[in-house]
Amino acid sequence: MAIFTLCSASGAPGVSTTALALTRTWAGAVPRRGALLVDADPVGSSLIPGFVEAGIPTGGGVLGVAAERAGTADDVLRHAVALDEAATCLILTGVSEPGQARPLGAVWTTLIEVAHELERSELDVIVDVGRLGHRWEPQALIDASDVVVLLTRGTLPAVAAARAALAQLHTRRPAGTPTRVLVVGRPSPYSAGDVARALDVEVLPELPEDAWASRALSLVSPTTTRLRRSALLRAATETAAALGHIATPAGQVKAS
Ligand SMILES: Nc1ncnc2c1ncn2[C@@H]1O[C@H](COP(=O)(O)OP(=O)(O)OP(=O)(O)O)[C@@H](O)[C@H]1O
Ligand SMILES: [Mg+2]
Repeated sequence: MAIFTLCSASGAPGVSTTALALTRTWAGAVPRRGALLVDADPVGSSLIPGFVEAGIPTGGGVLGVAAERAGTADDVLRHAVALDEAATCLILTGVSEPGQARPLGAVWTTLIEVAHELERSELDVIVDVGRLGHRWEPQALIDASDVVVLLTRGTLPAVAAARAALAQLHTRRPAGTPTRVLVVGRPSPYSAGDVARALDVEVLPELPEDAWASRALSLVSPTTTRLRRSALLRAATETAAALGHIATPAGQVKAS
């Protein structure tokens, strides 16, 4: 498997929504792969309310993994929820409030260690770490990620914050490991091309403004035809395919 970590530098550009959209579209976009979404945002999960509203048990999520001191891929997957029958779209829910994130270092180490076992399950991992800089952020997971995706809106303050965050990521992650920028929500003053030139970084196919699909995703509702055909999920399929291409079939990642 490969670990794809999604994060932001400022505001709330749509990290959690995008992580859900990518997880839902991954199996259709990346040949022979499914996706496990790990909610690792220390500020608190924005996914749990959707599960509660839909009446779906969360399976314990990262707190279940921590309580059980789970050590294998099967242990981890037992605490995840599958949104489809084929279990190609799985979610490991996160913490409800920051205090719960403090002791989770061992969970992130476990996830990195079970990487080769998830490879046998043909699952890639998509991690939502939320906004960078929180004292309990999952640093080991960020640093061990095969690809880090920094999300931003196409506005001047957002792009300025993204520049500073990119500089930090380049300093702390191993040389050559890919970082990509993903622009969410157009029309905005700056296109993905503008952002790529301003930040001198490769950008992924951008995601459109789509309030209806964003809300449907947060409700953990089934992937209906309307949702599958929404502007957001069609674009997310392209973005997922582009991310999948960065990883080789063996799960190794090409250096950028
Ligand atoms: N592509 C989109 N089109 C329209 N609305 C969006 C889109 N992506 C996200 N949103 C909306 O923006 C708000 C913030 O989204 P989301 O919670 O995904 O952001 P986030 O970056 O995860 O924020 P946080 O750092 O608070 O976790 C939500 O109301 C969501 O529905
Ligand atoms: Mg979020």
